[in-house]
Amino acid sequence: MTMLKEKRITKPLFIHYHAYKKLQELAKHPFDLAKPGNLTPERLNKYVSESCGYKLLYGTERINDEVMIALQSLALESQAMQKMQQMQAGEIVNYIQGHPSENRPALHTATRDFFDSPNPSKAAMEAAKLAKAEIDKLKKFIADIDKENKFNTLIMIGIGGSDLGPKAHYLALQYLHKKGRSARFISNIDPDDVAIALDGVDLKKALVLVISKTGTTLETVTDEAIVRARFKSAGLNDAEHFISVTMPGSPLDDPKKYRKTFYMWDWIGGRYSTTSMVGGVLLSFTCGFDAFWELLKGANAMDKAALKNGIDKNLPLLAALLGIWNRNFLNHHTLAIIPYSQALIRFPAHIQQLDMESHGKRIDQQGNSVDFDTGPIIWGEVGTSSQHSFFQLLHQGTTTVPIEFIAYKENQWPLNDDVHGTTSQQKLLANLFAQSLGLATGQPSDNPNKVFPGNRPSHIVLGKKLTPYSLGALLAFFEHKIAFQGFIWDINSFDQEGVQLGKVLANKIISRFAKPNETPYPLGDTLINQLNSL
Ligand code: F6P
Repeated sequence: MTMLKEKRITKPLFIHYHAYKKLQELAKHPFDLAKPGNLTPERLNKYVSESCGYKLLYGTERINDEVMIALQSLALESQAMQKMQQMQAGEIVNYIQGHPSENRPALHTATRDFFDSPNPSKAAMEAAKLAKAEIDKLKKFIADIDKENKFNTLIMIGIGGSDLGPKAHYLALQYLHKKGRSARFISNIDPDDVAIALDGVDLKKALVLVISKTGTTLETVTDEAIVRARFKSAGLNDAEHFISVTMPGSPLDDPKKYRKTFYMWDWIGGRYSTTSMVGGVLLSFTCGFDAFWELLKGANAMDKAALKNGIDKNLPLLAALLGIWNRNFLNHHTLAIIPYSQALIRFPAHIQQLDMESHGKRIDQQGNSVDFDTGPIIWGEVGTSSQHSFFQLLHQGTTTVPIEFIAYKENQWPLNDDVHGTTSQQKLLANLFAQSLGLATGQPSDNPNKVFPGNRPSHIVLGKKLTPYSLGALLAFFEHKIAFQGFIWDINSFDQEGVQLGKVLANKIISRFAKPNETPYPLGDTLINQLNSL
């Protein structure tokens, strides 16, 4: 257990670090990307780091050597590296000192820790053993399903972390989908979500995968009941079609209702669960087990990179520090994730939950109110489509939005025609580079409407090709970037108390719909009356 957990500290640490003061000074005059001659080829070549086949190009951030040195001092003072080691070793990181809390490890790295990790801790090894047993179970299950040759559709029911990561990864690997296999997704409690997902599906050929860590989530439990009833009314034995992913002992751990149950444990947070069975079953069914295994390899490689000292090799640490510079010192409130890769169309939605559920926090791990900004608002869409949508505001609006671009040298599918002397992939990357340079340098004009102020920071995460391996590495890159920021801010990145209030009030209002004559809830009742008067 960490020193910090043993000794309660009664003021937020972050703004008292020496490096914080230094960075505040430096932030008074951030590097001027828009000044003619400042953004040079030398600068673009200088600010490049590399891990696991990815380059992070950050010459277009408003940093210089002094800023990068001070940011690294901040990482040192906050013991970010030690905390990453402790997290991956299975120490308790999910706690608020002196208050009831989940009080447990965040060991999602153990779900992919099978590839010669140096000196794993006992806790990490035990967790990896449990995870490996599920993987072996999955491999056999997929082989049986392949042999049975009966199912062509997987209907996945789950929400939040039990939906966003798996779905984003399923879409990212569409080029590997097995012929005749696809998935439908149900996450919302909106009945139309269920109706659309079931529309046209031959239930005889459908497997239903219900994913819920707790097994009690209202949306998932409700949607499952509706889908199960459809199987029953079609005269099918639902238990032969339903499988689940959940914690041992949850309501979804019931052999009478599911032909197979795969496990996760309380040390895997929902939003950090894509490399557990939460993503594993879907990806193995649609892309094959080997693709999922490659994804785990890539994620594990980035886990190891996150343990390396120095921002030249540790991409997640570098990205975390750039994010803190933009958030806490240049005071930017939002962050856009813009992949120039159509395959990553739902990836920003996954990162949105990963980051905002982790860092939508206002107390530190000692229980003190923080006196600095924590997580930014995360949003995003793919380029180039988004250029024709919200990039106007990014270039000329009054709010500066830092951007994390993601792109690949090669496309995935065998279609990249040459039109007018260049391929589409070249045109795609040209657009990305143009945006990053244009946002940085801006453009003067005599016509005020055509002035681009510039100094809009961004960086590019650039890989060779989006494969299962590089996708796994990309996922772990974001997971660890976020963890590092939490460590530096001294906030708990692994709980989500902020979602509870809405759930409690929704249940109260649901009771009022069900039993209008019992215990009134005046505020909720007023809104129900407004509804009823339509
Ligand atoms: O409501 C938020 C949340 O708890 C997320 O953190 C989680 O990913 C999601 O709900 C789904 O939870 P479960 O997997 O237990 O159904």
